[in-house]
Amino acid sequence: MSERPEYRTALVTGASRGVGAEIVRSLVAEGLDVWALARPSDALDALAAETGCHAVAADLNDDAATDAALAGLDIDVLVNNAGVISAVKPFVDLTGSEADAMLNLNLRAPLRVTGALLPGMISRRQGHIFAITSIFGPYSGPNMAVYCATKAAIRSFCACLRMDIAGTGIRVTEIAPGRTETGIYLDAFGGDSQALDEKLFSNYRTLQPQDVAEALMAALRLPARADANIIELSPTDQAAGGMVFAERGV
Ligand SMILES: NC(=O)c1ccc[n+]([C@@H]2O[C@H](COP(=O)([O-])OP(=O)(O)OC[C@H]3O[C@@H](n4cnc5c(N)ncnc54)[C@H](OP(=O)(O)O)[C@@H]3O)[C@@H](O)[C@H]2O)c1
Repeated sequence: MSERPEYRTALVTGASRGVGAEIVRSLVAEGLDVWALARPSDALDALAAETGCHAVAADLNDDAATDAALAGLDIDVLVNNAGVISAVKPFVDLTGSEADAMLNLNLRAPLRVTGALLPGMISRRQGHIFAITSIFGPYSGPNMAVYCATKAAIRSFCACLRMDIAGTGIRVTEIAPGRTETGIYLDAFGGDSQALDEKLFSNYRTLQPQDVAEALMAALRLPARADANIIELSPTDQAAGGMVFAERGV
Protein backbone atom coordinates (compact mmCIF):
# COMPACT_ATOMS: atom_id res chain seq x y z
CA MET A 1 0.00 0.00 0.00
CA SER A 2 1.27 3.49 -0.86
CA GLU A 3 2.48 5.48 2.09
CA ARG A 4 1.76 8.73 0.25
CA PRO A 5 -1.45 10.54 1.13
CA GLU A 6 -4.18 10.22 -1.44
CA TYR A 7 -4.86 13.86 -2.12
CA ARG A 8 -7.51 14.56 -4.77
CA THR A 9 -8.03 18.32 -4.76
CA ALA A 10 -5.90 21.46 -4.48
CA LEU A 11 -6.42 25.22 -4.30
CA VAL A 12 -3.64 27.63 -5.26
CA THR A 13 -3.96 31.35 -4.53
CA GLY A 14 -2.16 33.89 -6.71
CA ALA A 15 -2.33 31.40 -9.52
CA SER A 16 -2.56 33.53 -12.63
CA ARG A 17 1.20 33.97 -13.17
CA GLY A 18 4.64 33.57 -11.61
CA VAL A 19 5.14 30.95 -8.93
CA GLY A 20 1.43 30.19 -8.51
CA ALA A 21 0.89 29.31 -12.18
CA GLU A 22 3.83 26.89 -12.11
CA ILE A 23 2.48 25.23 -8.96
CA VAL A 24 -0.89 24.79 -10.69
CA ARG A 25 0.84 23.12 -13.68
CA SER A 26 2.74 20.76 -11.38
CA LEU A 27 -0.29 19.78 -9.31
CA VAL A 28 -2.39 19.14 -12.43
CA ALA A 29 0.44 17.01 -13.85
CA GLU A 30 0.38 15.03 -10.59
CA GLY A 31 -3.27 14.19 -11.26
CA LEU A 32 -4.94 16.53 -8.79
CA ASP A 33 -8.13 18.45 -9.48
CA VAL A 34 -6.90 22.04 -9.05
CA TRP A 35 -8.72 25.30 -8.29
CA ALA A 36 -6.63 28.31 -9.34
CA LEU A 37 -7.53 31.57 -7.63
CA ALA A 38 -6.60 35.10 -8.70
CA ARG A 39 -8.43 38.25 -9.71
CA PRO A 40 -10.24 38.00 -13.06
CA SER A 41 -7.79 38.13 -15.99
CA ASP A 42 -7.06 36.67 -19.41
CA ALA A 43 -4.01 34.99 -17.87
CA LEU A 44 -6.16 33.08 -15.39
CA ASP A 45 -8.55 31.99 -18.14
CA ALA A 46 -5.61 30.95 -20.33
CA LEU A 47 -4.14 28.85 -17.51
CA ALA A 48 -7.49 27.08 -17.10
CA ALA A 49 -7.65 26.40 -20.86
CA GLU A 50 -4.04 25.14 -20.87
CA THR A 51 -4.16 22.89 -17.80
CA GLY A 52 -7.81 22.02 -17.20
CA CYS A 53 -7.73 23.62 -13.76
CA HIS A 54 -10.81 25.45 -12.44
CA ALA A 55 -10.38 29.24 -12.67
CA VAL A 56 -11.60 30.94 -9.48
CA ALA A 57 -11.79 34.67 -10.16
CA ALA A 58 -11.82 36.41 -6.79
CA ASP A 59 -10.04 39.26 -5.05
CA LEU A 60 -8.57 37.98 -1.79
CA ASN A 61 -8.96 41.47 -0.32
CA ASP A 62 -12.72 41.16 -0.79
CA ASP A 63 -13.94 38.97 2.08
CA ALA A 64 -17.39 38.33 0.64
CA ALA A 65 -16.02 37.38 -2.79
CA THR A 66 -13.40 35.10 -1.21
CA ASP A 67 -15.94 33.39 1.06
CA ALA A 68 -18.25 32.83 -1.91
CA ALA A 69 -15.40 31.41 -4.01
CA LEU A 70 -14.38 28.95 -1.30
CA ALA A 71 -17.87 27.88 -0.25
CA GLY A 72 -18.48 24.18 -0.72
CA LEU A 73 -14.92 23.31 -1.75
CA ASP A 74 -13.31 20.24 -0.15
CA ILE A 75 -9.62 20.96 -0.62
CA ASP A 76 -6.84 18.54 0.34
CA VAL A 77 -3.86 20.67 -0.69
CA LEU A 78 -3.99 24.40 0.01
CA VAL A 79 -1.21 26.59 -1.39
CA ASN A 80 -1.26 30.07 0.14
CA ASN A 81 0.87 31.70 -2.53
CA ALA A 82 -0.63 35.11 -3.43
CA GLY A 83 1.62 37.94 -2.34
CA VAL A 84 2.50 41.51 -3.15
CA ILE A 85 5.44 43.89 -2.80
CA SER A 86 3.68 47.21 -3.13
CA ALA A 87 6.84 49.27 -2.58
CA VAL A 88 10.53 48.94 -1.77
CA LYS A 89 11.43 51.92 0.37
CA PRO A 90 12.37 52.87 3.93
CA PHE A 91 9.53 52.35 6.40
CA VAL A 92 9.37 56.06 7.14
CA ASP A 93 8.45 56.73 3.49
CA LEU A 94 5.96 53.88 3.13
CA THR A 95 2.35 55.10 2.79
CA GLY A 96 -0.46 53.58 4.81
CA SER A 97 -2.05 52.10 1.71
CA GLU A 98 1.26 50.54 0.57
CA ALA A 99 1.65 48.93 3.99
CA ASP A 100 -1.98 47.79 4.09
CA ALA A 101 -1.69 46.16 0.66
CA MET A 102 1.07 43.87 1.97
CA LEU A 103 -0.56 43.26 5.37
CA ASN A 104 -3.86 42.33 3.74
CA LEU A 105 -2.69 40.04 0.94
CA ASN A 106 0.43 38.51 2.52
CA LEU A 107 -0.87 38.01 6.06
CA ARG A 108 -4.61 38.47 6.48
CA ALA A 109 -5.66 36.60 3.33
CA PRO A 110 -3.78 33.33 4.02
CA LEU A 111 -5.17 33.26 7.56
CA ARG A 112 -8.72 33.67 6.25
CA VAL A 113 -8.34 31.09 3.45
CA THR A 114 -6.74 28.59 5.82
CA GLY A 115 -9.51 29.18 8.35
CA ALA A 116 -12.14 28.49 5.71
CA LEU A 117 -10.63 25.22 4.44
CA LEU A 118 -9.13 23.73 7.61
CA PRO A 119 -12.37 22.37 9.13
CA GLY A 120 -12.92 20.18 6.06
CA MET A 121 -9.36 18.85 6.25
CA ILE A 122 -9.78 18.07 9.94
CA SER A 123 -13.01 16.19 9.33
CA ARG A 124 -11.39 14.17 6.51
CA ARG A 125 -8.24 13.77 8.64
CA GLN A 126 -5.94 14.64 5.80
CA GLY A 127 -4.59 17.73 4.14
CA HIS A 128 -1.44 19.64 3.29
CA ILE A 129 -1.23 23.38 3.80
CA PHE A 130 1.61 25.22 2.07
CA ALA A 131 2.64 28.83 2.66
CA ILE A 132 4.93 30.50 0.16
CA THR A 133 6.80 33.00 2.31
CA SER A 134 10.26 34.42 1.53
CA ILE A 135 13.80 34.56 2.78
CA PHE A 136 12.71 38.15 3.56
CA GLY A 137 11.15 37.11 6.85
CA PRO A 138 13.66 34.99 8.69
CA TYR A 139 16.33 37.32 7.26
CA SER A 140 16.03 41.10 7.30
CA GLY A 141 16.19 43.34 4.26
CA PRO A 142 16.53 47.11 3.98
CA ASN A 143 13.45 48.88 2.59
CA MET A 144 11.34 45.76 3.15
CA ALA A 145 10.14 46.22 6.75
CA VAL A 146 6.44 45.49 6.26
CA TYR A 147 6.95 42.76 3.66
CA CYS A 148 9.44 41.03 5.99
CA ALA A 149 7.04 41.42 8.92
CA THR A 150 4.22 39.73 6.99
CA LYS A 151 6.40 36.79 5.97
CA ALA A 152 7.86 36.35 9.47
CA ALA A 153 4.33 36.38 10.84
CA ILE A 154 3.32 33.58 8.50
CA ARG A 155 6.29 31.51 9.70
CA SER A 156 5.02 31.96 13.25
CA PHE A 157 1.46 31.12 12.18
CA CYS A 158 2.61 27.89 10.52
CA ALA A 159 4.59 26.86 13.61
CA CYS A 160 1.61 27.43 15.89
CA LEU A 161 -0.81 25.76 13.48
CA ARG A 162 1.34 22.60 13.46
CA MET A 163 0.87 22.45 17.23
CA ASP A 164 -2.89 23.01 17.07
CA ILE A 165 -3.49 20.26 14.51
CA ALA A 166 -0.86 17.72 15.57
CA GLY A 167 -2.44 14.27 15.35
CA THR A 168 -4.98 15.17 12.67
CA GLY A 169 -2.75 13.98 9.83
CA ILE A 170 -2.62 17.45 8.26
CA ARG A 171 0.80 18.70 7.22
CA VAL A 172 2.01 22.31 7.16
CA THR A 173 4.94 23.26 4.94
CA GLU A 174 6.43 26.72 4.59
CA ILE A 175 8.51 27.36 1.48
CA ALA A 176 10.71 30.45 1.75
CA PRO A 177 12.23 31.27 -1.64
CA GLY A 178 14.99 33.71 -2.47
CA ARG A 179 14.89 35.89 -5.55
CA THR A 180 12.67 34.34 -8.20
CA GLU A 181 12.20 35.72 -11.69
CA THR A 182 8.60 36.96 -11.69
CA GLY A 183 6.86 40.31 -11.91
CA ILE A 184 6.30 40.71 -8.16
CA TYR A 185 8.59 43.76 -7.96
CA LEU A 186 6.92 45.48 -10.91
CA ASP A 187 4.76 47.82 -8.77
CA ALA A 188 7.86 48.87 -6.83
CA PHE A 189 9.55 49.68 -10.16
CA GLY A 190 6.58 51.78 -11.31
CA GLY A 191 5.67 49.17 -13.92
CA ASP A 192 9.03 49.52 -15.72
CA SER A 193 9.82 45.90 -16.61
CA GLN A 194 13.09 46.79 -18.35
CA ALA A 195 14.42 48.60 -15.25
CA LEU A 196 13.27 45.65 -13.12
CA ASP A 197 15.03 43.17 -15.36
CA GLU A 198 18.28 45.18 -15.41
CA LYS A 199 18.32 45.68 -11.63
CA LEU A 200 17.21 42.26 -10.35
CA PHE A 201 17.38 39.59 -13.02
CA SER A 202 19.55 39.91 -16.11
CA ASN A 203 22.83 39.99 -14.17
CA TYR A 204 21.88 37.27 -11.70
CA ARG A 205 21.20 33.53 -11.89
CA THR A 206 17.94 33.66 -9.93
CA LEU A 207 15.39 30.99 -9.13
CA GLN A 208 12.72 30.30 -11.71
CA PRO A 209 9.09 29.76 -10.67
CA GLN A 210 9.30 26.06 -11.57
CA ASP A 211 12.09 25.62 -8.97
CA VAL A 212 9.67 26.64 -6.23
CA ALA A 213 7.02 24.32 -7.69
CA GLU A 214 9.52 21.44 -7.65
CA ALA A 215 10.34 22.04 -3.99
CA LEU A 216 6.64 22.00 -3.20
CA MET A 217 6.11 18.75 -5.10
CA ALA A 218 9.02 17.13 -3.24
CA ALA A 219 7.37 17.99 0.09
CA LEU A 220 3.97 16.83 -1.17
CA ARG A 221 5.35 13.45 -2.23
CA LEU A 222 6.81 12.59 1.17
CA PRO A 223 5.18 9.70 3.01
CA ALA A 224 2.17 10.76 5.09
CA ARG A 225 4.21 10.33 8.28
CA ALA A 226 6.73 13.01 7.20
CA ASP A 227 6.23 16.78 7.00
CA ALA A 228 8.84 19.14 5.54
CA ASN A 229 8.20 21.99 7.99
CA ILE A 230 10.34 24.67 6.35
CA ILE A 231 12.13 24.74 3.02
CA GLU A 232 14.42 27.72 2.43
CA LEU A 233 15.17 27.72 -1.29
CA SER A 234 17.82 30.19 -2.39
CA PRO A 235 19.47 30.78 -5.72
CA THR A 236 22.83 29.05 -5.47
CA ASP A 237 24.53 32.41 -5.99
CA GLN A 238 22.51 34.25 -3.32
CA ALA A 239 23.33 34.17 0.40
CA ALA A 240 20.86 35.58 2.93
CA GLY A 241 21.66 37.34 6.18
CA GLY A 242 24.10 40.14 6.79
CA MET A 243 24.29 43.35 8.67
CA VAL A 244 23.89 47.08 8.15
CA PHE A 245 26.43 49.20 10.08
CA ALA A 246 26.00 52.91 9.40
CA GLU A 247 29.14 54.99 9.68
CA ARG A 248 29.32 57.79 12.29
CA GLY A 249 27.45 60.89 11.20
CA VAL A 250 25.44 59.23 8.43
N1 LIG B 1 9.49 36.56 -6.89
C1 LIG B 1 10.27 36.51 -5.84
O1 LIG B 1 11.46 36.93 -5.89
C2 LIG B 1 9.77 35.91 -4.56
C3 LIG B 1 10.71 35.55 -3.59
C4 LIG B 1 10.28 35.01 -2.39
C5 LIG B 1 8.93 34.82 -2.17
N2 LIG B 1 8.02 35.16 -3.11
C6 LIG B 1 6.60 34.93 -2.80
O2 LIG B 1 6.08 34.03 -3.77
C7 LIG B 1 4.67 34.25 -3.88
C8 LIG B 1 4.30 34.36 -5.36
O3 LIG B 1 4.94 35.53 -5.87
P1 LIG B 1 5.30 35.75 -7.40
O4 LIG B 1 6.71 36.18 -7.44
O5 LIG B 1 4.85 34.60 -8.22
O6 LIG B 1 4.38 37.05 -7.70
P2 LIG B 1 3.57 37.52 -8.98
O7 LIG B 1 4.17 36.99 -10.23
O8 LIG B 1 3.40 39.00 -8.82
O9 LIG B 1 2.16 36.79 -8.77
C9 LIG B 1 1.31 37.19 -7.75
C10 LIG B 1 -0.01 36.46 -7.89
O10 LIG B 1 -0.91 36.93 -6.85
C11 LIG B 1 -2.14 37.29 -7.47
N3 LIG B 1 -2.80 38.36 -6.72
C12 LIG B 1 -2.33 39.62 -6.52
N4 LIG B 1 -3.24 40.34 -5.81
C13 LIG B 1 -4.29 39.49 -5.59
C14 LIG B 1 -5.54 39.65 -4.93
N5 LIG B 1 -5.89 40.82 -4.34
N6 LIG B 1 -6.38 38.60 -4.89
C15 LIG B 1 -6.05 37.42 -5.49
N7 LIG B 1 -4.88 37.20 -6.12
C16 LIG B 1 -4.01 38.25 -6.17
C17 LIG B 1 -1.73 37.75 -8.86
O11 LIG B 1 -2.80 37.66 -9.77
P3 LIG B 1 -3.72 38.90 -10.17
O12 LIG B 1 -2.91 40.15 -10.08
O13 LIG B 1 -4.11 38.55 -11.57
O14 LIG B 1 -4.87 38.85 -9.20
C18 LIG B 1 -0.68 36.71 -9.22
O15 LIG B 1 -1.29 35.54 -9.67
C19 LIG B 1 4.36 35.51 -3.06
O16 LIG B 1 3.82 35.16 -1.81
C20 LIG B 1 5.72 36.15 -2.88
O17 LIG B 1 5.79 36.95 -1.70
C21 LIG B 1 8.41 35.69 -4.31
